[in-house]
Amino acid sequence: MEVFSTIESLKKAVSEAKNVGKTIGFVPTMGALHEGHLSLIQTAKQHCDVVVVSIFVNPIQFNNADDLKTYPRTLEADCDKLKTVGCDMVFAPSVEEMYPEPVTETYNFGELEAVMEGPQRPGHFSGVAVVVRRLFEIVEPLKAFFGEKDFQQLAIIKQLVKQLNLNLEIVPCPIVRADDGLALSSRNMRLSADARAIAPKIYETLCGGKNKMNECTIDEVKTYVIDTLNSYEVFEPEYFEIVNDTTLQPISDWNASEGVVGCIAVWLDGVRLIDVIRFK
Ligand code: PAJ
Repeated sequence: MEVFSTIESLKKAVSEAKNVGKTIGFVPTMGALHEGHLSLIQTAKQHCDVVVVSIFVNPIQFNNADDLKTYPRTLEADCDKLKTVGCDMVFAPSVEEMYPEPVTETYNFGELEAVMEGPQRPGHFSGVAVVVRRLFEIVEPLKAFFGEKDFQQLAIIKQLVKQLNLNLEIVPCPIVRADDGLALSSRNMRLSADARAIAPKIYETLCGGKNKMNECTIDEVKTYVIDTLNSYEVFEPEYFEIVNDTTLQPISDWNASEGVVGCIAVWLDGVRLIDVIRFK
């Protein structure tokens, strides 16, 4: 496994691989890798000959300076983990390498970002789109792999590819959870022991909501989820929306869409956690 910090050196290695007929799979990350990230690489390995993983804490997608400052940076440990899953190339550029000039471009994803994470994190998805597009242009993969954990991000990346007519396939990958149900996240390591112990209630509550879908309306399930989490006091739900899985627009009737997911953001112990459950 080789680690590259410059665009030029990575591009050279990728093009050498392509020249001998290898297909390239790409997994963008911000590091602090866990089993969720590693599952993306394992899937990429099954689809493509060579897997490139980027590790870059992208400053322009953070709208909270503290969150950016405290975001875990663990490159050495990340590389050790990547070796165990057969990653071929790691791209870990500096901020100056990715952004030699101030970023002026912005993206607008219309109604896809008018909901959930969008209003809570202004400019976030535009920042994600800027970096992902640049990374796609550098790596030029056949396929890129994204987790369903960040359900809205996945929808936005699909839209980006469509909007710009990019020549690659986006492969969605299922959420990986801890044994107790908590969705794995780099932010989990910031939870205190007490907070970590109660955090699985988020997914437990989502599952409880799903169990009610045959006898309850969408509004009733939403109320159940929010009220249940609020009853623990330590949780501060930011939103819980039940949406069409393609347009991400909230629906008010279970039959309003073929695919329905519930997306939640919850504050716990000063950490913002997100999760998603598929209703159908
Ligand atoms: P990051 O949060 O590091 O996540 C990288 C990828 O791992 C994303 O596609 C995310 O959905 C996936 N992932 C995270 N936790 C997961 C889990 N528990 N199960 C399955 N997949 C999981 O998302 C980003 O970085 C950034 O926004 C990025 C796309 C790299 C752009 O900067």
